[in-house]
Amino acid sequence: MKLEELPGIDRDAVAVRLDDVRQRTLELVSALDWETLRRQHLPILSPMVWDLGHIGNFEEQWIGQRLAGQAPLADGFQRMFDPVANPRPTRAQLPLPSGEDLLGYLARVRQQSVAVLARAADGGDPRLVAGGLVYELVAEHEEQHQETLLQAMQVLADPPYRPARRRPAPAGRAARRDMVLVPAGPFRMGWQRPGFAYDNELPPYEVDLPAFSIARFPVTHGDYLAFVEDGGYRRPELWQPPGWAFRQREEMESPRHWSAREGGWRARFMDQDTPVSELADLPIVHVCYWEADAYARWAGQRLPSEAEWEKAALWDPARGRSRAYPWGEQAPDPPRANLDQLAFAPAPVGAYPAGASAYGVEQLVGDTWEWTSSDFHGYPGFVAYPYDDYSKTWFGSDYKVLRGASWATRPAVARGTFRNWDYPIRRQIFAGFRLAQDG
Ligand code: AVJ
Ligand code: FE
Repeated sequence: MKLEELPGIDRDAVAVRLDDVRQRTLELVSALDWETLRRQHLPILSPMVWDLGHIGNFEEQWIGQRLAGQAPLADGFQRMFDPVANPRPTRAQLPLPSGEDLLGYLARVRQQSVAVLARAADGGDPRLVAGGLVYELVAEHEEQHQETLLQAMQVLADPPYRPARRRPAPAGRAARRDMVLVPAGPFRMGWQRPGFAYDNELPPYEVDLPAFSIARFPVTHGDYLAFVEDGGYRRPELWQPPGWAFRQREEMESPRHWSAREGGWRARFMDQDTPVSELADLPIVHVCYWEADAYARWAGQRLPSEAEWEKAALWDPARGRSRAYPWGEQAPDPPRANLDQLAFAPAPVGAYPAGASAYGVEQLVGDTWEWTSSDFHGYPGFVAYPYDDYSKTWFGSDYKVLRGASWATRPAVARGTFRNWDYPIRRQIFAGFRLAQDG
């Protein structure tokens, strides 16, 4: 593309967007003291102050340094907040800055970014500035770390995290919990429109799938309780060997954040601890890939592949093209999906008829991420851009792909084509699953 053909940048919209993201970050942590924010609550999660420093340093590196060639604003921060140099279990040992220093740093970085934005197109790599790409990268990165912060907040139990505000999700509705047939045939997978998407959502390509069926709704707490009560966690034949070894090592008996009390199982969402029997219609959450896979075997079915998930979610067979979201082109809003860190729990099945896909599959985007059976790989013709360590560093069979976004995902990150990934043992993420079968 020639330079003059690159899309321009709406500076005011970018400034508002960055502001909005930062406000949310500060709102989320405002309910906690610095002592709690400095502690590491789980070895696989960063101390929350590390996330905050990393958010600021990421912004500084992309805007102040790469775009404008400015010198670092704080000594040693680049190294301290580099996620590859400091794996999660080591982050509590770092000489992390005080709360006051951290807030000062975030504000100085933001001042610098706003100054660079004011003269955006005048310098730097034009491809990075075009359409505000690097600014959207910085915004979505911070939003993804908001979800990581919320995982750490969900781990807090005594006292639990009390959200500054909460908007209850809509009620569920009685609906058939059947399997939906997706006939055989090709569809186009991946991001197919202008605007921001991560490199791993590109390039789009044709995938030809045999017929399969996929559950209209995610597996619920009620469904999952039946698996637990049927001895699902005591029957090695239901588990793949590495999954069973993990179950044994962790002595797992239930999803994470469930507790066995007199009177039965309870599940905790932040500061709300509820009998599982009262959550029967809520999608299950805080299960790892191995638990999802064992449940599917118990149910005589399987997890969908990533391609099956995307076809069921986005393909519009009548038009022969993909939608931006399961329901169409409209940006996510509260009647269509449970997103945006408002409900602090999944919504009951049937709560979002307006969010159904062309095939009639519901609650694909929002509520919980959904484990797929697919390893994380680049699509054919993948090119790393602009952030080398975002995707390609993690390709391979160590990670499973999750699709669909959770209640803790911001709407901008909930693109239908967005790909999440994690180790198959991870349970602190807001992840559940739905079932599929051949034909
Ligand atoms: C896409 C959620 C796997 O948290 O490791 C944040 C997102 N990348 N900073 C992660 C990410 C760089 C990433 N996941
Ligand atoms: Fe990051």
